[in-house]
Amino acid sequence: MCRNRRADRRIMDMEVRAVKTMRPSEIAELMQKALVDCAGAASAEELEAARIKYLGRKGALPAIMKGLKDLDPSERAEAGKLANEFKKAVSAAIAEGKRSSGKTAPIPGRAPSFDHTLPGLWRGLGSRHPVSQVIEESVRIFSSLGFTIADGPDVETEYYNFDALNTPADHPSRDIQDTFWLKNGSLLRTQTSPVQIRVMEKQPPPVRIVAPGRCYRRDTSDATHSANFHQIEGLYVDATVSMTDLKSDITYFAQRMIGPDVKVRFRPHFFPFTEPSVEYDFSCHACDGDGCRICKKSGWIEISGAGMVNPKVLKSVGYDPEAVSGYAFGMGIERIAMIKYGINDIRMLYENDVRFLGQFV
Ligand code: DAH
Repeated sequence: MCRNRRADRRIMDMEVRAVKTMRPSEIAELMQKALVDCAGAASAEELEAARIKYLGRKGALPAIMKGLKDLDPSERAEAGKLANEFKKAVSAAIAEGKRSSGKTAPIPGRAPSFDHTLPGLWRGLGSRHPVSQVIEESVRIFSSLGFTIADGPDVETEYYNFDALNTPADHPSRDIQDTFWLKNGSLLRTQTSPVQIRVMEKQPPPVRIVAPGRCYRRDTSDATHSANFHQIEGLYVDATVSMTDLKSDITYFAQRMIGPDVKVRFRPHFFPFTEPSVEYDFSCHACDGDGCRICKKSGWIEISGAGMVNPKVLKSVGYDPEAVSGYAFGMGIERIAMIKYGINDIRMLYENDVRFLGQFV
């Protein structure tokens, strides 16, 4: 015990001062310590630190070799043999540590702390949330048409969410977009349309952006409503943008997102920030437009609103409505996910039930 403690101290001294001579028993002891260090290395960095400490140019092994000549001749041969063994065993332990990517290698003479023969723990692979998948796919499709991505804050000012979109405080269309107001007068945005204004304020035409993001409304949750949902806003302003561009781009999107046979229908509607305005529908993919339970026998599924940007809006951001025109559209992400994947209750998208989410790999 006492001898061991002395040897320990010697080893420690050696580590600090690179002692010149090491006796065979000390080399053997240091080898055990080196093997424990290598096997216990929890990361590639720790393993590398052990390699440098024991085998590196200024490490233990060169010090042992250097000290051999000063040993008593009766111990030199044995010490030389042990030094070779030291090199082989520690190199092998480091190689093994690398091979098993940081797992503990068995230490000679001790039971391994890890049983390699046991089956591993299977954590299961995750998958992208269907809402994220639809956002990513939509962005990919619009990117192929030359759109770039724009972003805006979820906590929005009343000005950007309503006033700048030609929806003053007494406008009746504010009523259907009641939301969560903050004490400082800001609100959680009810639509992604404010991003249109933020983008146009910052750059001159032409503009061609899509803006995906969360929206909020004071809606009671049911199969088709949620107080928190997602939209993608689209905006294209240039010298000669027309309703034809709007319909053909949305049709291209629908056919790539849902399928080549999907048709798009525009119905006249009103939005304060577009003129003329439409609501648009996709033909029901479940019955090919014949009428079924999903489309409530109409053959069509409502997606969102769109139209030509109101000249008043263009003017308010400093654009010349005589020189440029533009189209804008909204798109309900959950609505598209529900159509694409046949989901009949929006709430399933927010329950985080892995049995449900695992189906959208
Ligand atoms: N923001 C509207 C909504 O949430 C949808 C919308 C309608 C967006 C017309 C537009 C548009 O860009 O031009 O109901």
